[in-house]
Amino acid sequence: MEKPRSQNPVLEAIYSRRSVRDYTSDPVPKETIYEIIRAGTWAPSGLNNQPWRFVIVQDSEKREALAQLTRYGEIIRRAPVVIAVFVDKEAMYHEVKDHQAMGACIQNMLLAAHALNLGAVWLGEILKNAEIVRETLSLPPNLDLMAVVALGHPKRRDQRSSRKPLEEVIVKEYW
Ligand SMILES: Cc1cc2nc3c(=O)[nH]c(=O)nc-3n(C[C@H](O)[C@H](O)[C@H](O)COP(=O)(O)O)c2cc1C
Repeated sequence: MEKPRSQNPVLEAIYSRRSVRDYTSDPVPKETIYEIIRAGTWAPSGLNNQPWRFVIVQDSEKREALAQLTRYGEIIRRAPVVIAVFVDKEAMYHEVKDHQAMGACIQNMLLAAHALNLGAVWLGEILKNAEIVRETLSLPPNLDLMAVVALGHPKRRDQRSSRKPLEEVIVKEYW
């Protein structure tokens, strides 16, 4: 399917963001990481309860420990920094709504990385080892892993993706 284009900067960012899995070795400045996390925290959440918690992992030994917990470990090894995103069970009020808020948070982070000319990917396969990730990062049991976001300066910018056409996903229209 042809990639949509828009003159609108928000829509353009949504349409042009791609998962980026290969990075240069250039470091990502601390302030940039904080900006990406700040964008995550500006996601909507039910009752504005903001259940998200973040762990920044730049340290190469810790990154290697995480890399061994997913079949996508090479992405974590290549990324100069990864952000592990958790939901705080003690801050939750509704299973589904809190997890929806977490998805919005992670998407904001991906869009922020893209807006800052960085590349990022949402890693979910590592959730099969969520408990070990929590122990590896010395975190308390109230933190549940939602995703690891790998990010860095893209080595390439030619990623392609596709989407189902609207006719396939709109199941009914009542005008
Ligand atoms: C919940 C979730 C889990 C994902 N897990 C992984 C993963 O473990 N490894 C990976 O390489 N990409 C992962 N992705 C990225 C998807 O593969 C990617 O978003 C999808 O193929 C569409 O490509 P695009 O992001 O470039 O549009 C995940 C995305 C989501 C939303």
